[in-house]
Amino acid sequence: MSLKNVRLEVMQFLENKVDSFVDQYLIRIEKIWQPTDFLPNSESDNFLEEIKELREIAKDLPYDFWVALVGDTITEEALPTYESWLMDVEGVDNVERNGWSKWVRQWTSEENRHGDLLNKYLYLSGRVNMREIEITTQHLISDGFDIGTGRDPYKNFIYTSFQELATYVSHNRVSQLAKSFGDNKLAKMCKMIAGDEMRHHQAYSEFVTQIFKIDPSEMMIAFQQMMKNKIVMPAGFLRESGEKISSAFDNFSNSAQRIGVYTAADYVDILEKLNIKWDINNISGLTDEAEKARDYLMKLPARMAKVSERLIVPVDSYIFKWVEPALVR
Ligand SMILES: [Fe+2]
Ligand SMILES: [Fe+2]
Repeated sequence: MSLKNVRLEVMQFLENKVDSFVDQYLIRIEKIWQPTDFLPNSESDNFLEEIKELREIAKDLPYDFWVALVGDTITEEALPTYESWLMDVEGVDNVERNGWSKWVRQWTSEENRHGDLLNKYLYLSGRVNMREIEITTQHLISDGFDIGTGRDPYKNFIYTSFQELATYVSHNRVSQLAKSFGDNKLAKMCKMIAGDEMRHHQAYSEFVTQIFKIDPSEMMIAFQQMMKNKIVMPAGFLRESGEKISSAFDNFSNSAQRIGVYTAADYVDILEKLNIKWDINNISGLTDEAEKARDYLMKLPARMAKVSERLIVPVDSYIFKWVEPALVR
């Protein structure tokens, strides 16, 4: 049997469990929070006062903070790219509406709230150029992404396990920073989003755990291949208006590193956490090739930590069209 067919069989086998994954890791629509719960209420007579207060507090947030928040928002807003990518993964069938496509739709419906909330906050804050942000968002969706997974479910679930944890870290740090600058409402918004990302991370990493039980060698090799090529960020193709594809990503990433929202050390930390979560060191019954992949994965965090220590992040903020420096502290 070809590798592709085995993967399809594994996905079909696990499909029987998708309903329980949905119950365990996603929240019923009537119960889950909505963006409006954390934003000024436009039906209230106090609406204008609430906005005034939001804008006053927003004046204390520094330049790199805004850039990191804008980049995070745009990454969330590119959700159409992620949904269409996942719908195309081997074993996911949107036409037959199988269990996996149900998972993808419900996951998407939860994720969609993140961009909604952050976008509305940014709009109300008055500190950013919304039109430039909208152009970048449209570019990013139009450019799509290539995360190096192909249609392989094993690689895709490695990617989503990693990425959901990375977004947890990033939203959680923005939340902590907002709090330290006295913006408790924004801190709460980002905390709620971070909570969703953590649940999603737990779900995707559980899918990988399940696959490790059925097809350990191929799962190990897929994990190693993803890490060998490095996990590219979903907004890797980020650009500003009038600029070339990918030209904005490094500068955005530098802002996020400088202010401590997401750093090279976090990348290493996530990898280490995944190794522990999947008990990579103790998985048995591996082929020779998978044993080598395991060795590689166990040694990788220490190797990457050394590289990340040598990494130099530029001291000065790059000025984006998204955020006018004169409007920011
Ligand atoms: Fe999200
Ligand atoms: Fe997410």
